[in-house]
Amino acid sequence: MARPDDRTVLLNGYRGGVELGVVGAGRMGLAAAPVFAAAGFGVALSSRRGPDRLATLASGFGPDVRAVAVSEAMGAPMVMLAVPWSEVEALLAAHATTTGAVLMDATNAWAGWSPTRAASGSSEAVAQWTNADVVKVFSTVHARRLAAPDGLAVPFATDVPSAGDRVADLLSRIGFAPVYAGSLAEVADTMAPGGLLFGRTTSDSVLRTLISGST
Ligand SMILES: NC(=O)c1ccc[n+]([C@@H]2O[C@H](COP(=O)([O-])OP(=O)(O)OC[C@H]3O[C@@H](n4cnc5c(N)ncnc54)[C@H](OP(=O)(O)O)[C@@H]3O)[C@@H](O)[C@H]2O)c1
Repeated sequence: MARPDDRTVLLNGYRGGVELGVVGAGRMGLAAAPVFAAAGFGVALSSRRGPDRLATLASGFGPDVRAVAVSEAMGAPMVMLAVPWSEVEALLAAHATTTGAVLMDATNAWAGWSPTRAASGSSEAVAQWTNADVVKVFSTVHARRLAAPDGLAVPFATDVPSAGDRVADLLSRIGFAPVYAGSLAEVADTMAPGGLLFGRTTSDSVLRTLISGST
């Protein structure tokens, strides 16, 4: 008897023709898209400039990356949000996600140039603005590191365990070691710019020790 495709089982069918949505085609979105595609995912890449102006850029990443409208990317079962903080609330008000979707919040609420002035708890605000299950992830990782997964730890936080499982699986598949850092409230300071977990490049065991010491 044929074995089921483990990717289909683990990712609830994402590989059966369904893509990951990426909203924002700047440093973070353009780092993520080819990494997701290299791991075998389709990518629906979008930005403010619209699919026609993104098409050439997207096609440079190969056949698995398509340029789409923001509304289409937001309709994917897992969506990475990678736009400036100032855009987030209005964008989420304008574009609903599908039922049961996971929103991977990569944004940081910078309040000026200084990390010490960044707002904490921004993903809790995001969770208020969307119908999706929010997972705070990639926000602590520099775009250059996201572009070249190193097998080291990437923290994520969520209030929805099933959404966290899906993101942990995605992180593993693209080449990072997923580490659950806590609920959105628990990471309000530690995952914010300037926080304990922000910009850390370390092993999963060291990251877990840092997290347990911070609670
Ligand atoms: N850069 C990093 O290393 C890094 C690391 C961790 C987290 N982050 C966070 O990730 C987010 C994105 O950072 P970035 O460095 O990638 O920014 P970026 O290079 O300035 O790119 C921002 C992207 O967002 C798009 N965008 C802006 N407003 C939009 C809207 N209303 N609807 C759809 N798309 C919109 C822009 O579209 P156009 O291209 O069409 O103008 C652009 O593609 C920020 O919140 C940042 O704090 C960044």
